[in-house]
Amino acid sequence: MRGTDIQLAAEYLLRGETVAIPTETVYGLAANALDEKAVARVFDVKQRPLRNPLIIHVADVDQITRYTSGLLPAAQKLLSHFAPGPLTLLLPRNSSIPDIVTAGSPLVAVRIPAHPMTLQLLRLTDLPLAAPSANPFGYISPTTAEHVEKMLGQKIPYVLDGGPCDAGIESTIIGFPDGVPTIYREGAIPKDKIEKIIGPVAAFAGKKIHAPGMSAVHYSPNTPLILCDDLEQVVRDHNNFRIGVITHGNYAASVTADNQWILCKDNEWETAAHNLYAALHEMDERNYELIIAKTFPETGLGSALNDRLRRAAMKGVGNGNHATN
Ligand code: TXA
Ligand code: MG
Repeated sequence: MRGTDIQLAAEYLLRGETVAIPTETVYGLAANALDEKAVARVFDVKQRPLRNPLIIHVADVDQITRYTSGLLPAAQKLLSHFAPGPLTLLLPRNSSIPDIVTAGSPLVAVRIPAHPMTLQLLRLTDLPLAAPSANPFGYISPTTAEHVEKMLGQKIPYVLDGGPCDAGIESTIIGFPDGVPTIYREGAIPKDKIEKIIGPVAAFAGKKIHAPGMSAVHYSPNTPLILCDDLEQVVRDHNNFRIGVITHGNYAASVTADNQWILCKDNEWETAAHNLYAALHEMDERNYELIIAKTFPETGLGSALNDRLRRAAMKGVGNGNHATN
């Protein structure tokens, strides 16, 4: 069932059930983070391996300190600038957070989502809500309640409908290994905005950490996807395929407009992020043999958008590699 009844969503959650919730990034599949069984159900519904930890969502900074310890000054600064918002911090957890949430790690990922309905829900339940993106493991994240209903509607009692997600891509994840602010997952807050607040941050690359957003094949449509700089050339090279194009700026000249999705005008990368997953969901429904997407400039949000498209492209054409999903 899908609706806007926050009270009903709270009742389900307090009873240990799983509810899809709107956030400003993507929809989450939420459960009481303090209830192991409820959290186990989230993994089951998503078919997500237990080794992949979940983000907990809380209402305010006080609640962050209720479940974690050791908030460094840099973390505090980030929270005062970006919370509520698409910022996730990796912090030492305390014993109230069960192992299943963090996959045994001493760190827990925590964020304060900037969606009024979910903030109200968090206050009403007074619970931390463990919530991964509300998609089957490895598939495209949902940015509307309809996306969630289509993918998981049979498996959960309620989808709290908060309309289309503003940001449209996942939160930026920041940890502090050895006290050094480090980006673990690029996301809706670009690196330059983070650095304006706390100075230089390290990139996660090269460190050995198991994280689902880090696995190569992720955010993937079923339709093979090619990511490229030269759209026209790649379209020419695949002229025997039924092609859908995802681009920005202008239409590709060699493909009819109804088979193209322009994510944004040039430089409006926030609009592109808002539209990206909806475009992938829709393209995947249209039975194309191939999706061809144009790379974004690697600046600001463009870098996170390319990251998602690169992962979506990892399945390759015709190799049907679903191994890590
Ligand atoms: O915007 C978002 O972050 C959305 C909304 C629903 O809040 N959530 C989301 O969750 O993207 P999920 O589960 O799809 O991705 C969570 C990411 C994964 O890359 C996971 O590995 C990382 O967070 N993560 C969670 N807990 C972690 C931990 N203890 N240590 C390292 N990485 C962690
Ligand atoms: Mg996800």
